Amino acid sequence: KRLILIGPPGSGKGTQSPIIKDEHCLCHLATGDMLRAAVSAKTPLGIKAKEAMDKGELVSDDLVVGIIDEAMKKPSCKKGFILDGFPRTVAQAQKLDEMLERRGVKIDKVLDFAIDDAVLEERISGRWIHPASGRSYHTKFAPPRVPGVDDVTGEPLIQRKDDTAAVLKSRLESFHRQTQPVINYYSKKGIVATLHAEKPLTDVTDEVRKVLS
Ligand code: AP5
Ligand code: ZN
Repeated sequence: KRLILIGPPGSGKGTQSPIIKDEHCLCHLATGDMLRAAVSAKTPLGIKAKEAMDKGELVSDDLVVGIIDEAMKKPSCKKGFILDGFPRTVAQAQKLDEMLERRGVKIDKVLDFAIDDAVLEERISGRWIHPASGRSYHTKFAPPRVPGVDDVTGEPLIQRKDDTAAVLKSRLESFHRQTQPVINYYSKKGIVATLHAEKPLTDVTDEVRKVLS
């Protein structure tokens, strides 16, 4: 399967991705995770992306299109993939169409994580992540077994630099202005499934399973 996950910050894309990935043997391509890894490794890509990310703005289309095109070459992505956080602008969606056409493949479903803005601050302010794997936890909704420690590796969890109320405001603004039109772009193709992303985590997983079965 080839899937796209679209939703505002904190809507649950990164939480549901590992579950879908394991159940359908897909690769998980999250542009946010890849960019954060580049920023912490101070690569040329990371240096270019950091300023926009810290402000909660989108990085340039060219940068993310390049990393996705490169990442899709991985053998593990041949069977299918989950795009988490990409495409986020109509220009990115058009570039993706070109990339897929070259490869002779198509997107099967776009999962639209629909949720009210008002609940997102609590979601992101309680989030703790394991940067190496992209796994996320929540102090209230999905606590790790040991506070501050990743369940799988035992390594420390960290909070994201952009998970503040002020930066969330600008991330939401980018979402509504630049990414909402992408949902419309795929609606016209008839492949969007809208989820009730404000429901508890396991309910959202059930909805995802229903859509993909
Ligand atoms: P990115 O990393 O993609 O951030 P985002 O889109 O803002 O999304 P989040 O990761 O915040 O939300 P999520 O939906 O994954 O939430 P999660 O599942 O963790 O991008 C970061 C930045 O990189 C962008 O701002 C931009 O600068 C740049 N960038 C990335 N892609 C780009 C692109 N294509 N073009 C240009 N720039 C790009 O859940 C959140 C919390 O809630 C967790 O703690 C979780 O445990 C909890 N939770 C999840 N589901 C539930 C539930 N159902 N009930 C209760 N709690 C829940
Ligand atoms: Zn995420």
